[in-house]
Amino acid sequence: MKTRLLKIGDNGPETSVAEAVSLLRRGEVVAFPTETVYGLGADALNAEAVAKIFAAKCRPADNPLIVHISNHDQLSAVVDYIPPTAQALIDRFWPGPLSIVMNKHSQVPDITTGGLTTVVVRFPQHPVAQLLISSFDGPIAAPSANLSGKVSPTTAEHVYQDLAGRIPLIIDGGPATYGLESTVVDYTTEPPVILRPGSISLEELRAVIPNITLEKPGEPIRSPGMKYRHYSPAAPVILFVGQPTETAVSLREYLADHDNQSCAVLWHTGDFSDTKLQYQLSGDPALAAPRLFAAVRELDEQHPPEILVQGYESSGLGAAIMNRLQKAATQVVEC
Ligand code: TXA
Ligand code: MG
Repeated sequence: MKTRLLKIGDNGPETSVAEAVSLLRRGEVVAFPTETVYGLGADALNAEAVAKIFAAKCRPADNPLIVHISNHDQLSAVVDYIPPTAQALIDRFWPGPLSIVMNKHSQVPDITTGGLTTVVVRFPQHPVAQLLISSFDGPIAAPSANLSGKVSPTTAEHVYQDLAGRIPLIIDGGPATYGLESTVVDYTTEPPVILRPGSISLEELRAVIPNITLEKPGEPIRSPGMKYRHYSPAAPVILFVGQPTETAVSLREYLADHDNQSCAVLWHTGDFSDTKLQYQLSGDPALAAPRLFAAVRELDEQHPPEILVQGYESSGLGAAIMNRLQKAATQVVEC
């Protein structure tokens, strides 16, 4: 299959979105931009179409998909009930990078939810995503548009690298602004639980829902995708965790001990600009997040023996960054 990359030109997204909609109506998949990462979409209510998402990504069948909507009426088509307290989060954060687990409507096929009786719903903010869903006039199931287990795509080129030849169309809407996947909140329990930290932080959620909690390590995993290895570049990732000045010292020592100029270094504090293969992110997690996945891909493309990563402190967006880095890491060095 030939994969077409359609850029949003000066004339706006209408032409590319119209092509994407006609593919979706024929039960095909299309990749499209959202404000978090690129998604690989199909008609959420068409089991055969959704099966093509799993096939293109090589995604395990028990890992359910997020269903994307573009207006509040579409919500009642995919969930059987909106918990009144969930409404407060919806009012505050939709459209935006927040996904909410609710009990599913019977018309959502089992394949979309990996056999679960719950469904995750998200109302994206990105104008192209909104136009696509509203023109299609129905909910669109979409996981991140990467091969299963790989780093999520924040540009159309990343999607192309992973899925060229496997999908018919990618709409190129430029780089994603947040660069980390949405926060997933489970509203089928009381108190509600954050299953995946993301672009909206625990602190922001607590301001609206004070009793919201983080899923505790060791509890049975309720978000099926979280048990799989994720964000795995080809090179092993060694993650340095601690205060920025301490991680900088440990990184420097590690490089000296291993006499290893060929290691790649992803860093923000200290100075590693003399290392042959390196990428500097901002020390501010909010500025680093949009570049993180692109940086990991860029370093990995040089086939280094190892990628050394300087961690962030786990508060605010730093918690979401660390969640992704912990999953990518083959080894963690506590500093
Ligand atoms: O930002 C995002 O959320 C992006 C864009 C494209 O919207 N999508 C995304 O989808 O990251 P995906 O499939 O890569 O991640 C969805 C996560 C997975 O960990 C999955 O297991 C979990 O949500 N999930 C899906 N349905 C669930 C359910 N019913 N209950 C619990 N977790 C669920
Ligand atoms: Mg994903």
